[in-house]
Amino acid sequence: MLIPPDVPLSPRAFEFLANLVYERSRIRLGPDRQSLVASRLRQRVQSLGLGDYEDYCALLRAPGGEDEIDSLIDLISTNHTHFFREPAHFDLLTRHLLPRLAEGTKSSLRQLRFWVAAASSGEEAYSLAIVLGEFCRTHPWLRWQIDASDISQRMLERCRQGIYEEEKVELPVGEWRQRWFQRGIGERVGCLRVKQELRRHVVVHWVNLFQDTYPVPRGLDVIFCRNVMIYFDVPSRTHLVARLTEMLAPGGYLFVGHSESLIGIRHGLVSVWPSVYMKPE
Ligand SMILES: C[S@@+](CC[C@H](N)C(=O)[O-])C[C@H]1O[C@@H](n2cnc3c(N)ncnc32)[C@H](O)[C@@H]1O
Repeated sequence: MLIPPDVPLSPRAFEFLANLVYERSRIRLGPDRQSLVASRLRQRVQSLGLGDYEDYCALLRAPGGEDEIDSLIDLISTNHTHFFREPAHFDLLTRHLLPRLAEGTKSSLRQLRFWVAAASSGEEAYSLAIVLGEFCRTHPWLRWQIDASDISQRMLERCRQGIYEEEKVELPVGEWRQRWFQRGIGERVGCLRVKQELRRHVVVHWVNLFQDTYPVPRGLDVIFCRNVMIYFDVPSRTHLVARLTEMLAPGGYLFVGHSESLIGIRHGLVSVWPSVYMKPE
């Protein structure tokens, strides 16, 4: 049984939760999010056998509450994503950026490095992997790796599995489904799994974008950090863009969401396309 919807999340409890979430993830929960927070936490509070949200706040404050903070952020984060979201970015990569980046590695056989830094359940990282898989059909010597990360363990587990409901796998080219996915059998009928030949290029990590150091090497060719900065305030975005810039190789690219231009943020990148930036060489 769930906590009845009439058990309120008091302003004091909401303020405590919003401050904690901000301190850990920089996700800003404005006052208009109070009922959303209550509905996302109701089931969790109940499953822990607690009576109300005040008890939940007490658990988070108590020694040992640290693990529960991860679950709180997991429940609060918005994870919406889908395959080939904002498709112009993938076209740009295929037509213009990958040929240039690949040319730069041809003589050294250095591998191209990509980081999908708010990967949610993985559709964005595997869209990129498909684009790279397709590109390699004409550039078979190219070596590449994608690091995919997120703050939500729940989403990362789905990312690792790479299994999606068939009707949600919408791809711009019909034959890619057959080439890059395998059909589920038995209890997985109706699902598609990204083939191992793509999955082996995708390394999944838990990363909070505001942690001190990242488990991803510097000198990256491309970072996707899309549709997450909208949840952060301007000082946090400014700090994050500076950190991501440090992670890029000279001549590397940062992709942000279409509604997340870096206008109003001080940064050292060059705008090369709507919502795509390059670190000067
Ligand atoms: C709306 S999804 C965007 C997914 C994907 N990038 C896309 O464009 O489709 C935002 C993701 O950012 C993650 N996120 C939020 N705050 C984060 C933080 N501080 N560090 C890492 N990931 C974070 C959330 O867990 C969520 O999965």
